[in-house]
Amino acid sequence: MSSTLGIDFGTSNSAAGYVRGGAPVLIDLEAGAQTLPTAVFFDFDAKKMRVGERAAQALLSGEEGRYMRGLKSLLGTRLMRESRMLLGERLDFIDIVGRFLAEVRRRAEAATGETFDRALSGRPVQFHTADEARNAQALLDLTEAYTRAGFSDVRFLNEPEAAAIANRAVLEDGDLGLVVDIGGGTSDFTLFRQGQGGDIDILASHGVRIGGTDFDRRLSIAKVMPQLGMGSDIRHAFGNNTHVAPNAIFNDLATWQKIPFLYGPDTRRAARELAKFAVHPKRLARLEKLLEDELGHDLAFAVEAGKIMANDPAQTDPVIHVGMLKRGATLPLPAAFMHRKLTPLADQIGEAAEVTLSMGHVSAAEVNKLIFVGGSGLMQVVEDALRQRFPAAQMHRGAAMAAIVSGLAIRSATAFDDQP
Ligand SMILES: Nc1ncnc2c1ncn2[C@@H]1O[C@H](COP(=O)(O)OP(=O)(O)OP(=O)(O)O)[C@@H](O)[C@H]1O
Ligand SMILES: [Mg+2]
Repeated sequence: MSSTLGIDFGTSNSAAGYVRGGAPVLIDLEAGAQTLPTAVFFDFDAKKMRVGERAAQALLSGEEGRYMRGLKSLLGTRLMRESRMLLGERLDFIDIVGRFLAEVRRRAEAATGETFDRALSGRPVQFHTADEARNAQALLDLTEAYTRAGFSDVRFLNEPEAAAIANRAVLEDGDLGLVVDIGGGTSDFTLFRQGQGGDIDILASHGVRIGGTDFDRRLSIAKVMPQLGMGSDIRHAFGNNTHVAPNAIFNDLATWQKIPFLYGPDTRRAARELAKFAVHPKRLARLEKLLEDELGHDLAFAVEAGKIMANDPAQTDPVIHVGMLKRGATLPLPAAFMHRKLTPLADQIGEAAEVTLSMGHVSAAEVNKLIFVGGSGLMQVVEDALRQRFPAAQMHRGAAMAAIVSGLAIRSATAFDDQP
């Protein structure tokens, strides 16, 4: 008999689970790990698509190929349906997400001996904040990716609602809880009340397209991109006038899901031209070299690692290691800088939490438990922005990375009960 697979398809990490013998089980998708980095690498030598940790290893060891991360952020954009030649096939990003999901399914089946024909997938409450047309398109894109992955049917559950289901034990009867799920691409909230006997009543769910990758982007633009010539002057080919280098390449280089688009001949030519006419050519020469060597993701990983380091209060001198720009070079990330750059984003996340309350017709003072899940819920600026708005609530951190997939696993058993 085939079962339903619960899948948390995340911007940065994915996970899967199902129900066995009446109990939810999380599946090891990597050796000894329940989370799988949402990343693929098209290995040009081996002519294979590598997934998860193996994709990251191939990138970091400098193998010839194309790495992609943050694919979820492309759902609902026109880039999803643009196709390109990869390993001798014409593929669009729906195919690529579909192949990633097919690999999740293959690994889940291999690890459990089950057959998973249907999927219960998590989804952000909003893929694109208030843009309803894009949100609808994103859901269509994701549904199609599940179909191309070979699932006969897929249903969706809001990610923070799955986390609420998994965290029932944290609440007592009558409690009013708010799930705060800050991931890689989005921040999602579910307001819920615990009823008699452990049942939960969902009062409102809401979300905003801000997550850890936006923190990465903001730090990269403020700290790293100027080192590559962002904001610097370019001479005109004729005459003495100058203009500021256009921002587009730098913005894309600071955005995980846009990096693979920078390695085409057009962008390289544009970078070469900028370097040629730059008033101070050294920085733009770094950009040209970085694109030539295809080190955009290595740089993005370095920024992310710097962010995590700077968020750790035990680190006295946090830095971004930018050896790919200049041997041994580092850029400091002092606490005041982190605070200044990231607090505006954290405040937008806090405001979205307040919108969730007004949707549920409750005040902040009534919420007595905040349940933090998702990797970026560990950011100090995020905690500060929420604590300030919910001074009376108790904070729970529980299983930060496992909550959503646990809720999906629990619900997977009944997700298709209305169907034969
Ligand atoms: N210790 C840490 N401190 C700060 N940020 C962290 C830490 N660990 C992970 N992160 C960040 O958390 C994010 C990933 O979180 P998570 O795995 O919950 O996201 P996701 O589920 O893949 O994304 P989404 O739910 O938005 O689609 C990344 O941006 C990562 O940099
Ligand atoms: Mg998530």
